[in-house]
Amino acid sequence: MTRMMVDGNCWLAELEAEDGPALEELVEACADYYDAAFGRPPFPAEAQSMYMALPDGADPHSKLLLGVFRSGDAALVGVLDVIRNHPKRATWDLGLLLLRPEERGKRLGAQVYGAFEQLARSEGANEIVLLTREDMHGAHRFWVRRGFVDEPDPSRTDGFVLMRRYLDDSRSTGDAAL
Ligand SMILES: CC(C)(COP(=O)(O)OP(=O)(O)OC[C@H]1O[C@@H](n2cnc3c(N)ncnc32)[C@H](O)[C@@H]1OP(=O)(O)O)[C@@H](O)C(=O)NCCC(=O)NCCS
Repeated sequence: MTRMMVDGNCWLAELEAEDGPALEELVEACADYYDAAFGRPPFPAEAQSMYMALPDGADPHSKLLLGVFRSGDAALVGVLDVIRNHPKRATWDLGLLLLRPEERGKRLGAQVYGAFEQLARSEGANEIVLLTREDMHGAHRFWVRRGFVDEPDPSRTDGFVLMRRYLDDSRSTGDAAL
């Protein structure tokens, strides 16, 4: 994948090995997210393992680790960790969307998600799934506004909830407007 422009201000591109230090710095700057999601700071090898982490049974070729780069200085301001065609063909699993704290709340997340969804559609995805925490109210609201719907699972007791967005809009109930 070459660069994909998000708006005039940034672009998405696959992260290369040389982006490792910048990813590490981003992860450290986002310790608040790791605390809210997992109740711990990022592990020392968190960034490194993000390059390789795969859910059980996923094809390594399905992994897509995308950086959000700011135009001008090309600084890494966010990351998306994606597994294509998992757990089934045409379903994309959005493992993480994470922006630097100072970049949040300025609609960058909505724009980045919009570009990602466009990419998923163009590669044949018909649904996107993700896990978030019920008590991360801001993130949950963000996903609801992007058209995701909770799939409650009573057997899940870890506070995480599966959310799904059908890209066939006739099946989706949320407001996915950017
Ligand atoms: C979640 C995240 C990607 C959202 O990106 P963002 O740029 O901050 O969000 P935006 O400015 O694009 O906001 C878009 C919408 O979501 C809402 N929203 C986003 N974050 C919110 C928050 N913390 N509290 C309440 N609403 C929030 C905005 O109010 C806005 O609502 P609207 O569409 O009704 O106007 C970003 O805040 C982030 O990286 N957070 C930390 C990591 C995280 O929690 N990721 C999700 C893991 S499941």
